[in-house]
Amino acid sequence: LVRPVILSGGGGTRLWPLSRMGAPKQFLPILNDESLLQSTVKRTTGDMFSDPIVVTGEEQRFFVANQLEEIGLAPAAILLEPAPRNTAPAIALAALCAANLGDELILVLPSDHVIEHVSAFTDAVAAASASALDGHIVTFGIQPTAPTSGYGYIEATQVEPGQAVRKIRRFIEKPDGERAAALMATGNCYWNSGMFLMQPSTFLAELERLAPAIAAPVASSMASPTVDGAFLRPDAAQFTQATSESIDYAVMEATELARVIPVDLGWSDVGSWDAVLEASEAGAGGNVLKGDVHVLDVHNSLIRSEADVTVGVVGLSDIVCVMTGDAALIAPLSRTQDVKKLVDAMRLSG
Ligand code: GDD
Ligand code: MG
Repeated sequence: LVRPVILSGGGGTRLWPLSRMGAPKQFLPILNDESLLQSTVKRTTGDMFSDPIVVTGEEQRFFVANQLEEIGLAPAAILLEPAPRNTAPAIALAALCAANLGDELILVLPSDHVIEHVSAFTDAVAAASASALDGHIVTFGIQPTAPTSGYGYIEATQVEPGQAVRKIRRFIEKPDGERAAALMATGNCYWNSGMFLMQPSTFLAELERLAPAIAAPVASSMASPTVDGAFLRPDAAQFTQATSESIDYAVMEATELARVIPVDLGWSDVGSWDAVLEASEAGAGGNVLKGDVHVLDVHNSLIRSEADVTVGVVGLSDIVCVMTGDAALIAPLSRTQDVKKLVDAMRLSG
């Protein structure tokens, strides 16, 4: 059985004003009536999987517990980080927990992505299992569509006949635009989808070798965690000593155990409003409208009223407009990445 490990610690600032500090992206129904976290968990309810381990922050524990209960799913554990230290320490906590449970394989999953083709996803996990059991860290590679610098890039070696899983030449986390374009031009590169299949022991040993400043304090923090129902609390004084770093920088760029399986999952990290529009089923005029929204001569736009507010738009195209009870965002689609800058500036100005 494969143990899903669900990472639920991000903020999702670029989806403001829907996503807030108090209610991050993964807990919101972005594409349908289910939150991204709920869709992620539901994807792993097949025969191949055991109950998930969720890693999240103290403040978000009831979001996680309630949303899992809502879909009738009991987690194996909800690990509570005393403070966020990025994904390498979060995955280390889960790997230690999984090792204690005697798990053979863990499948690390971001909680805030969309996957359209669920059976292609489970097929890929099954196809990657043998390689992971052989001691590799298997990534799931997405065919890139543009040289963006928001993702990790995986350069694969030549295809070996009959092998779904490929060796990799290098892993480059968030290259700048120029480098990303050069990588794309090789024709042999994939985006890292942020999902990892491996044995808990493989990850823990690589982490100890490559990032002892993470491995040691996290291991001490899990020596005798406090158990509170499904919630598991590592020791705060120990855990917070871990360096804050992502798995991508701490392990994937340096390890020789990385492999990639190319996948076609209808994957999107729905990180910004333009990506939400793209991942949604558009109606007339290529628009995605939600709530009490009325348009005239509007094309290729995302317009959502989350509150009891009537929104009217005339004669605009390629825009996003999101109204909530206390905030509104209006921007051209081409600038939705910059919502993060705006929100950061608003936070600074109080
Ligand atoms: N529990 C916990 N604690 N979860 C965390 C933390 C943390 O401190 N930090 C991030 N996460 C969760 C986020 O909620 C998200 O689900 C996942 O881990 C990945 O973190 P992001 O912060 O969203 O990473 P990214 O998008 O910048 O980059 C990663 O994902 C890309 C694909 O979307 C990398 O793995 C890239 O290489 C990859 O291309
Ligand atoms: Mg992300």
